[in-house]
Amino acid sequence: MAAEILYTIHFYVLFLLLTIRFSSSFIGNGDNYRRNVSLELNPGLNSLLTPLPPGVGLLHVRALGKNNTLHYLLCSQGAPALLLVHTSSISSKVVVDWPAFLVQNTTGSLKVTPESSVLYSNTLVFTRLWEYDDVNDTADPEHLPPSSFFQPYELQNFTWGDLNKTLDPMANTALLCGRDASESFSNGSLCLKFSAFDVEGRDQGWPSLLHNANSSQLRVGLDGVAPRSNRSRFSLELQAVGDTQPMSRVDFLRSIDDEYTPSIFKVSQWVSSPVNSTSPVLGYAQWKPVAYRRPSPVFEDATPCRHSTPVLVAQLPPSGLVLAYYGGESQTTGLNMTFSITGDPFYNTTNYLSWTVLVGLGSPPVDSFSPLVLVIMAVGLGTPMLIILLGGVCVCVRKNRTQTQVYEPIN
Ligand SMILES: *[C@@H]1O[C@H](CO)[C@@H](O)[C@H](O)[C@H]1NC(C)=O
Ligand SMILES: *[C@@H]1O[C@H](CO)[C@@H](O)[C@H](O)[C@H]1NC(C)=O
Ligand SMILES: *[C@@H]1O[C@H](CO)[C@@H](O)[C@H](O)[C@H]1NC(C)=O
Ligand SMILES: *[C@@H]1O[C@H](CO)[C@@H](O)[C@H](O)[C@H]1NC(C)=O
Ligand SMILES: *[C@@H]1O[C@H](CO)[C@@H](O)[C@H](O)[C@H]1NC(C)=O
Ligand SMILES: *[C@@H]1O[C@H](CO)[C@@H](O)[C@H](O)[C@H]1NC(C)=O
Ligand SMILES: *[C@@H]1O[C@H](CO)[C@@H](O)[C@H](O)[C@H]1NC(C)=O
Ligand SMILES: *[C@@H]1O[C@H](CO)[C@@H](O)[C@H](O)[C@H]1NC(C)=O
Ligand SMILES: *[C@@H]1O[C@H](CO)[C@@H](O)[C@H](O)[C@H]1NC(C)=O
Ligand SMILES: *[C@@H]1O[C@H](CO)[C@@H](O)[C@H](O)[C@H]1NC(C)=O
Ligand SMILES: *[C@@H]1O[C@H](CO)[C@@H](O)[C@H](O)[C@H]1NC(C)=O
Ligand SMILES: *[C@@H]1O[C@H](CO)[C@@H](O)[C@H](O)[C@H]1NC(C)=O
Repeated sequence: MAAEILYTIHFYVLFLLLTIRFSSSFIGNGDNYRRNVSLELNPGLNSLLTPLPPGVGLLHVRALGKNNTLHYLLCSQGAPALLLVHTSSISSKVVVDWPAFLVQNTTGSLKVTPESSVLYSNTLVFTRLWEYDDVNDTADPEHLPPSSFFQPYELQNFTWGDLNKTLDPMANTALLCGRDASESFSNGSLCLKFSAFDVEGRDQGWPSLLHNANSSQLRVGLDGVAPRSNRSRFSLELQAVGDTQPMSRVDFLRSIDDEYTPSIFKVSQWVSSPVNSTSPVLGYAQWKPVAYRRPSPVFEDATPCRHSTPVLVAQLPPSGLVLAYYGGESQTTGLNMTFSITGDPFYNTTNYLSWTVLVGLGSPPVDSFSPLVLVIMAVGLGTPMLIILLGGVCVCVRKNRTQTQVYEPIN
């Protein structure tokens, strides 16, 4: 009997291990694609011949794969924009005609060469910051009268800081901070923290989005801006420009695991994919529908956010990078990201908001079960199994005994 119990326990442990082994194939999808990432500021600029106007900077990140390259370009000329270009070459280059680039009227003043190696490109532009007086606490700017809105802050008119001072080539990050000329921004700023990644991982701070070697991240922070009403809430307008497939629809994914982003069980991804949805996604902007009301948030500082349906925008966004790279065939789409919902505190309580978005190539990373959840699942599934098996063993043992007793007298 002891042997049978030992067998059962043996089986249980084996089952546990198998479950963990099987499920761990979902952890990060076993993705170990790696890129060599290097940063370069204002590529090809001879600052003696072409002095930069204040606040203009162009960060180039080269993420070199085995037989392809991803170029990220973050630019603060006009509305801040992040351009992603995927090429099939390992020696593709960014070529900037600086005098023309700075005049902002010449398509082709920024190129990725050889142009025939370009497989895909996509740009995310931060165009406007909307502020509205939410007198009835609806947090629903789409159904508010125009009189509820204050004059939007045009990000193209912001004064942006020097990227050279915030560049961290070791961490592959840069911080771009800007402010409006108005009184409300006298103590405030809108900052974009850019991070490039060489391999799969997660940021420490919430929302701890899963990233991979084909993605980069922007964290938007709205800090210390004086709200123009006590019941002010904000929306951020984003626009996307693509050559063939603009980002046209937002998909929702659900998860049963919120370990990395407490209380958030959803992921939204704004994807560029061919009309037929069975075709693979070419590129994306991915976020969790949550913003935080403090720089080092605790659970209570999370506030949900919502996006409006993407719409086609007739004009190219006012970004120097977009005007320099894209010609006539490109398409622009846009949406508004609204922070907060009914009942949540207004901006004036903390004067801070942060929201994070991942921009990348190919299919967006999919959050998987964390090891903790896997162990809980394994124990949860394994324990009933153990009980059933033990029960079975007991019944067998009893039956054996009864049978032995019944047959004994005959012998
Ligand atoms: C990245 O750089 C390292 C060292 O410089 C090199 O050994 C490796 O092959 C490079 N990887 C790629 C994908 O280029
Ligand atoms: C690039 O490498 C991948 C595998 O690493 C391979 O599937 C693909 O065909 C290669 N592409 C080219 C153009 O060689
Ligand atoms: C761009 O602007 C410059 C100076 O304003 C002007 O000389 C040039 O003709 C313009 N180019 C185009 C293509 O509009
Ligand atoms: C707020 O609610 C009141 C009463 O329902 C309504 O009359 C008013 O139009 C609302 N204001 C806004 C801006 O929605
Ligand atoms: C922003 O700049 C544009 C172009 O320079 C100008 O036309 C517009 O009036 C400015 N908007 C604000 C709100 O200052
Ligand atoms: C960045 O700043 C450093 C030191 O201030 C300077 O040497 C370097 O030339 C600057 N780089 C660019 C691209 O402006
Ligand atoms: C900015 O801060 C200063 C000093 O703390 C304060 O006097 C001023 O009123 C603030 N401005 C705004 C617009 O809040
Ligand atoms: C990243 O892109 C490369 C090139 O398209 C592809 O081979 C690789 O599988 C991608 N990796 C991930 C994690 O998507
Ligand atoms: C905001 O609320 C404070 C305190 O309740 C009040 O003193 C102030 O006048 C209000 N400001 C506005 C713009 O309504
Ligand atoms: C923020 O606005 C609310 C609602 O009007 C008001 O009661 C509160 O006093 C304001 N808080 C601050 C810090 O001004
Ligand atoms: C989508 O798929 C259908 C059926 O496969 C096809 O007839 C149609 O042409 C496709 N549309 C596009 C835009 O590729
Ligand atoms: C964003 O919201 C504002 C205010 O409601 C609206 O005027 C604008 O068209 C919206 N932008 C997009 C891209 O939906």
